[in-house]
Amino acid sequence: MAKGEIIAGFLAPHPPHLVYGENPPQNEPRSRGGWEPLRWAYERARRSIERLKPDVLLVHSPHWVTQLGHHFLGVPHLRGKSVDPIFPNLFRYNFELNVDVALAEACCEEARASGLVAKMMQNPNFRVDYGTITTLHMIRPQWDIPVVGISANNSPYYLEMNEGLGEMALLGEATRRAIEKSGRRAVLLASNTLCHWHFHEEPAIPEDMSQEHPQSYEGYQWDMRIIELLRQGKTSEVFKLLPQFIQEAFAEVKSGAFTWMFSAMGYPEIPGELHGYGTVIGTGNAVMEWDLTRAS
Ligand SMILES: [Fe+2]
Repeated sequence: MAKGEIIAGFLAPHPPHLVYGENPPQNEPRSRGGWEPLRWAYERARRSIERLKPDVLLVHSPHWVTQLGHHFLGVPHLRGKSVDPIFPNLFRYNFELNVDVALAEACCEEARASGLVAKMMQNPNFRVDYGTITTLHMIRPQWDIPVVGISANNSPYYLEMNEGLGEMALLGEATRRAIEKSGRRAVLLASNTLCHWHFHEEPAIPEDMSQEHPQSYEGYQWDMRIIELLRQGKTSEVFKLLPQFIQEAFAEVKSGAFTWMFSAMGYPEIPGELHGYGTVIGTGNAVMEWDLTRAS
């Protein structure tokens, strides 16, 4: 079997508003559009997936919270309705997906070998969280590529932050080892928003874009600083700044997907391609790609 590899990683945030704005048949609420620049950013990312033709998509979502360890979807076929508990008016999505259980089990084993608490999720009626579903829908709406879904242990929130992010780096290394042994060509999806300061009131028409803008100027400035460094391939500088960015911009990367992905990729100092940036209820969202096949 050929050695597997991570062919690309994407920063692929999960505001359910993007699915709502697109009006796919799987989502019950109907909209009159909205958040177009971010949805067009995802259109560009979709074209990259089409070109890369991965065997599997791995996604780490902050909204599948498992306080006891890192969990992996472990049922070959899952279907059901995913509802956003904060925005049930926007996101009630009928999902159906195939899981690469063999790779998920290998990731789980490697995580355990690294000393992490890890577990397979084997409930056949499990409702997959809206973060996982939104990221996967936005990147590949055809749902024809098997997935590995990884939960958020959220250790950076209850351990000292660097200790928690250190665990995510270990999880990333474990994920890479599992992929290499599997022979798969894998794409990683870090389902994270950048600045997470948000508005607390929804406009009467949620998709009224005259109401959409950054909630915080400082947060916006942080996002631009981080994106510019990522565009320049200054990965180590980004990771030096990460704790301060998380603190001052309330950045969702704290939940670990971003660190997991970069650790798995070996923290490449290559320019990330920005597909687009936009706000959703005031939070900052960037769709970005690191194509490791081009880099090599
Ligand atoms: Fe989120």
